[in-house]
Amino acid sequence: ANMSPRYLLCLLALAFFHSSVGAEQRKLSPDNLLVITVATEDTDGFKRFTRTAREFNYTVKVLGLGEEWKGGDVARTVGGGQKVRWLKKELQKHSEDTERIIMFVDSYDVIFASGPEELLSKFSRLGHKVVFSAEGFCWPDQRLASKYPEVRTGKRYLNSGGFIGYAAELSAIVQQWKYKDSDDDQLFYTKIYLDKTQRTKFNMTLDHRSRIFQNLNGAVDEVVLKFERAKVRARNVAYDTLPVVIHGNGPTKLQLNYLGNYVPTAWTYEGGCSICDDDLIFFSEVPDEEMPLVYVAVFIEHATPFMEEFLERLSTLKYPTTRIRLFIHNNVVYHERHIQKFWERHRSLFPDARVVGPEENLKEEEARTMAVEACRKDPECDYYFSIDSDVALTNPDTLRILIEENKSVIAPMLSRHGKLWSNFWGALSPEGFYSRSEDYIEIVQGKRVGLWNVPYITQAYMIKGSVLRTKLSQVSLYMDEGGMDADMVFCRSIRDQGVFMYVSNRDEFGRLVASSNYNTSRLHPDMWQIFDNPVDWREKYVHENYSKIFEDEKAHVEQPCPDVYWFPAFSEKMCDQLVETMEDHGQWSGGSHTDERLAGGYENVPTVDIHMNQIGFEKEWLKFLKDYISPVTEKLYPGYYPRAQAIMNFVVRYRPDEQPFLRPHHDSSTFTINIALNRKGIDYEGGGCRFLRYDCKVESPRKGWSFMHPGRLTHYHEGLRVTKGTRYIMVSFVDP
Ligand SMILES: *[C@@H]1O[C@H](CO)[C@@H](O)[C@H](O)[C@H]1NC(C)=O
Ligand SMILES: *[C@@H]1O[C@H](CO)[C@@H](O)[C@H](O)[C@H]1NC(C)=O
Ligand SMILES: *[C@@H]1O[C@H](CO)[C@@H](O)[C@H](O)[C@H]1NC(C)=O
Ligand SMILES: *[C@@H]1O[C@H](CO)[C@@H](O)[C@H](O)[C@H]1NC(C)=O
Ligand SMILES: *[C@@H]1O[C@H](CO)[C@@H](O)[C@H](O)[C@H]1NC(C)=O
Repeated sequence: ANMSPRYLLCLLALAFFHSSVGAEQRKLSPDNLLVITVATEDTDGFKRFTRTAREFNYTVKVLGLGEEWKGGDVARTVGGGQKVRWLKKELQKHSEDTERIIMFVDSYDVIFASGPEELLSKFSRLGHKVVFSAEGFCWPDQRLASKYPEVRTGKRYLNSGGFIGYAAELSAIVQQWKYKDSDDDQLFYTKIYLDKTQRTKFNMTLDHRSRIFQNLNGAVDEVVLKFERAKVRARNVAYDTLPVVIHGNGPTKLQLNYLGNYVPTAWTYEGGCSICDDDLIFFSEVPDEEMPLVYVAVFIEHATPFMEEFLERLSTLKYPTTRIRLFIHNNVVYHERHIQKFWERHRSLFPDARVVGPEENLKEEEARTMAVEACRKDPECDYYFSIDSDVALTNPDTLRILIEENKSVIAPMLSRHGKLWSNFWGALSPEGFYSRSEDYIEIVQGKRVGLWNVPYITQAYMIKGSVLRTKLSQVSLYMDEGGMDADMVFCRSIRDQGVFMYVSNRDEFGRLVASSNYNTSRLHPDMWQIFDNPVDWREKYVHENYSKIFEDEKAHVEQPCPDVYWFPAFSEKMCDQLVETMEDHGQWSGGSHTDERLAGGYENVPTVDIHMNQIGFEKEWLKFLKDYISPVTEKLYPGYYPRAQAIMNFVVRYRPDEQPFLRPHHDSSTFTINIALNRKGIDYEGGGCRFLRYDCKVESPRKGWSFMHPGRLTHYHEGLRVTKGTRYIMVSFVDP
């Protein structure tokens, strides 16, 4: 063919261009990739880094492990020169290697989100020999900002926390280092990049749009988690990229912790948790005497409902008590009686226990310090477990489970029943207080299950003794000159040492008790807790077989007379405490007083009684009717939906010498419930109830069991004579 030289030149140029692009974009092999990082300490952040590197099969060379860090505190000031010095030495080995690709990344605050293949393909497509990560801040010397090339979209400034390139070029770059360990590495690289000659020579560029490197500082809002069916990926929504390396630089460590809970695969929709099992210790085969020694520290800093139950649970933990050292700080005089009682019963279980009472006037932070120091100073102390009195730790295996998770600091997830109030925060506000993370609700409600690295935990947590004696050995965990609350000081101290705090919702551990409306001037204040702590209330005050009514009615509801149902309602404690409360109140009514009260158009049948409103228990009683009696009514009288209103709610006292019986009458209610509060044959003789229309008697009432029968019309009835002792019943006229 007849080609003009010019045309030929053009073709040649084209061919050259193609081949060169082809060369740059040839498939780079993961075998030629080496990741280099620097870490002087095996921190939790470093462990996380290596875990994600392992997950994707990166080959990683760690420089500096075990060496003293002289590169300054890079979180707060300039520094980092030591990193370059080590890298300079290491890269000398590869300076001739034209095939090798090196990626340098920080480690404590870096995670991988994808593997070497994707990384290399993206690097190749960037079409340069050296690529540094980019960010929106010009650091450390802002005066250099104007010297940077303009970018149309993306971040303009160099960040040296991550870069990738051919070994030869990178080596040539770092061989220029001749500064002090405390000099700034980023400034060093920046100057080379800003020098046009060098930039061209080393064929350098920045990853402006986070195709590979995502620096979070200044870009937190650009990065979201993208959930696929069983995988999670962090995505930059500003540039629509899926970064491979995520760097929680500057003040974004907590954001990285948050992302690190999901990336690469810590959590999946199936509730699996790939990071969770790595570090497990299993104790099923370990004999009691070889179990780790746990210092259990209990803090009763304010009056708390259900204290007896709380203390009792300490003795029923499934953990050898010989391997527990108990410490109790009780700051509440009211609870001394509960500690005393607990002590009388369980002293032998905890012979070495230490109890610090309110008379010692120890402040909360002092008590917490005293307890944690005891573990720190005892080389035998394997774990420190701190628990506050408002934790209902219903899972007796909690200690063993938390130990098995093998984390430096870990809390069992606890929340108030049916509420979003819990013992952890998913995020911090800029001022260091609570902020709701996107996943907070789902974690509290158990819709996402796993181990969560969070910035704040409280009320119950476990710390490894070894961590107290190493990474946390120099910090005062609870004391702070600023007068900040002990829990805030604690979490800040832990975070500042780079120790991760986890909360686990992989198991059900228990719940938090609400204590703000706790009125200890009442005789049995827990009885009033039906609103604030409904689950604890139920466990304490409702008959243990009550719920079986709904499972197997025939076995748990009796019908001694037509349309008179009989079922378990109150626990022993409810019966006893209600009677004691009434006797303590003492204003039993009689005669004319009763007439006045009964002037409501129904029969005047005076009883010796005290009404719920007299002891301030009316609201609570109506709540009981609504939550516990209405469901039974609906079940036993199908089609009837009680309003569960009642103005007549009272305890009646029968005595041979006072009011021994009640003459026949109708009740002015749609239905009546009548609960026996004490025991025939022990507390009294005689008594019972007779329904005249059916000539049917129930002569042996059972303590805690309730009758339920229609009030008006059909169930004309009388209270049978009590011949000895005192009988108490709780009566309620429902839906008058
Ligand atoms: C990592 O390597 C192992 C074995 O060499 C392999 O089974 C696994 O699939 C690899 N993982 C990835 C993410 O490539
Ligand atoms: C970098 O190298 C590639 C291929 O070698 C070339 O196409 C590109 O123009 C170079 N870029 C710079 C800024 O020198
Ligand atoms: C617990 O974790 C540490 C580090 O995270 C690890 O070195 C150790 O082997 C783990 N212990 C057990 C018994 O699995
Ligand atoms: C606490 O209980 C006492 C006596 O039982 C009562 O007089 C007082 O009003 C209660 N206080 C509150 C805040 O409910
Ligand atoms: C509950 O029912 C079981 C049998 O079903 C019985 O053994 C137990 O004593 C009952 N509990 C109470 C408190 O009566």
